[in-house]
Amino acid sequence: MARAFGKVILNGEHAVVYGVPALACGLQRGVSALATRSESAELLFDGKAVEAESDTKRAFDAVRSLVGSGAYRVDVSVDMPCGVGLGASAAIGVAVTRALLDAEGARPSSAELLEIVSHWERVFHGNPSGVDAATAALGGCVRFVKGQGVTRLRLGSRLQLAIAVAGPPSSTLEMVSQVRAFRERNREQFERSLEAIRTLVQNAELCLEAGDLSGFGRLMDYNQMLLSAWFLSTPAIEDCCRLAREAGALGAKLTGAGGGGCVVALAGEDGPEPILRAWTAAGFQCFESDVVDSQPGPAPAGQLTEQSP
Ligand code: PMV
Repeated sequence: MARAFGKVILNGEHAVVYGVPALACGLQRGVSALATRSESAELLFDGKAVEAESDTKRAFDAVRSLVGSGAYRVDVSVDMPCGVGLGASAAIGVAVTRALLDAEGARPSSAELLEIVSHWERVFHGNPSGVDAATAALGGCVRFVKGQGVTRLRLGSRLQLAIAVAGPPSSTLEMVSQVRAFRERNREQFERSLEAIRTLVQNAELCLEAGDLSGFGRLMDYNQMLLSAWFLSTPAIEDCCRLAREAGALGAKLTGAGGGGCVVALAGEDGPEPILRAWTAAGFQCFESDVVDSQPGPAPAGQLTEQSP
């Protein structure tokens, strides 16, 4: 059974568009896929075949032609929320591609795998940065720099996250152009915030590696403040962040494009349960996820590099 992870961005979303690194991690929830020989190529979600004229079918055909596989029935099972900015589409792309490659007995490097998955992603997102697919494939915690790819980070301690759906997601494209418009109107203020995020991401990475969870949590809160100043937060996001902090979270912020979508909170010593209870009582859909160092994979060339210990 091939597997891929959902993802959250922990720090640096939007700033990443302007060259600042972003930190992301794979969730325990994700996608499984199994390919079995069949008369014709078929893609099924929980036993239901996808429509012939759908983007998902087009993405499947794109991947099949690149893998050069024979006819397979690929059964997909998704155990994460879809359409809320947690990278479900990229995780499906990674799981389906891995399933086809496994069935063919192929053993590509991570970089080769991601090159194929980028064709899946392009059907949905036009010009994806690649952070979703890389995190879906690698899991664990990664630093992503636009145009340079990802580096796997070594965590000083386990992260316990709580994730809430704070509303329907906005279009990533629209939120990115909203930030660009803000930048045009407030150049100086924007550049100052960008530099602040650059510094906080650098420090956040050091905190993660040193296992300094309270330091990391404070930087999540600081990042949330700076993202709110770019008008990316919503009343529901602010509510989720406040409830999480009151329930013992070390930090909480929006994750991804903002304007809706999800909030991620870092659990403190009482774990994620009190946060999840507070969110559930307030009517938010939520779940927990542990982040642990992922299995060291084959050393990927170019775009993907291992951080030296
Ligand atoms: O929509 P998501 O969760 O994949 O996150 C988008 C992240 C942005 O920084 C807002 C955009 C980007 O291309 O990096």
